[in-house]
Amino acid sequence: MKHFLNTADWSRAELQAMLDDARAMKKSPYGDALKNKTVALLFLNNSLRTRTSFDVGARQLGGHAVVLSPSGGMWPLEFEDGVVMDGEAEEHVKEAAKVLSRYCDLIGIRAFPKFQNWEEDRKDRILTAFAKYADVPVINMETITHPCQEMALVMALQERCEKDGRGPLDGKKFLLTWTYHPKPLNTAVANSALMIAAKFGMAVTVLCPTEDYILDERYMAQALRDANANRQAVTITHDITQGYDGADFVYAKSWGALPYFGNWGPEKRIRDRFRHFIVDEEKMARTNNALVSHCLPMRRNVKMTDAVFDGPNCIAYEEAENRLHVQKAIMKALAT
Ligand code: CP
Repeated sequence: MKHFLNTADWSRAELQAMLDDARAMKKSPYGDALKNKTVALLFLNNSLRTRTSFDVGARQLGGHAVVLSPSGGMWPLEFEDGVVMDGEAEEHVKEAAKVLSRYCDLIGIRAFPKFQNWEEDRKDRILTAFAKYADVPVINMETITHPCQEMALVMALQERCEKDGRGPLDGKKFLLTWTYHPKPLNTAVANSALMIAAKFGMAVTVLCPTEDYILDERYMAQALRDANANRQAVTITHDITQGYDGADFVYAKSWGALPYFGNWGPEKRIRDRFRHFIVDEEKMARTNNALVSHCLPMRRNVKMTDAVFDGPNCIAYEEAENRLHVQKAIMKALAT
């Protein structure tokens, strides 16, 4: 039994096989690979795309999804081992995981960091606990990484590059740019974009306002290992011109500065100085006619201008659609 927690646990060839299956299912959506199978989807945070695409995807393959959330009547869960459960939690994750495993064939987990202490959040305790105790495969639906989003992004890039005659992803310049947002956001999609771009042979540049916005060393190191294996580089810059010059792909995301987790007042004063990191036409003009995307949801004209987002090089809708196809391939690979 193998979980889908992080793309680092899977080889490029294994991921490409799932991407190929996703493309086949994009052409021919219905099947019986999940016939009589049930997927439990546990959402501890909001969602539009993930919730809908997993539910629709399970049904298109003959299966059934059960959506659970604390606000929807689920018992509050305890995730620590060995604690005296005399607080709010009524049920331990061990029982939740083991009982769901008796009813369901797959378990999806969405559990964002608490944003109080990165050293604690980086342990990814909820996902780890489910993976430890579940007797069926567990899928990461976004915790401190977002592997399903990574797969959808690569699929969208491969499709559009083929369609436009841009050639393979290997050797292309992938710019991951921090963008302004009024609130500190999860680093998951940024960690994921960094890792998947390096894994699929691209030269990655991370553009962020200051050193405080550099991503967790675990994901930087993983990207560097993959980049080295692919004879590519991972570069960090705080210089907008350097980041955009000659880029083939621009991926926009905002994230909170790790050293300021739990101390967001000072971080806000820093981030407010960098509203100009917005993806706009002037910056895009420096690129190699780059494709551009964002995982969504996205604040228009804060992270990216309407002109760029609604322009012909934006593949955000393709990426969002591909969540459905890649997740079907992932569920199929794990459950059959
Ligand atoms: N990109 C993404 O995961 O969207 P949702 O938060 O709406 O699920």
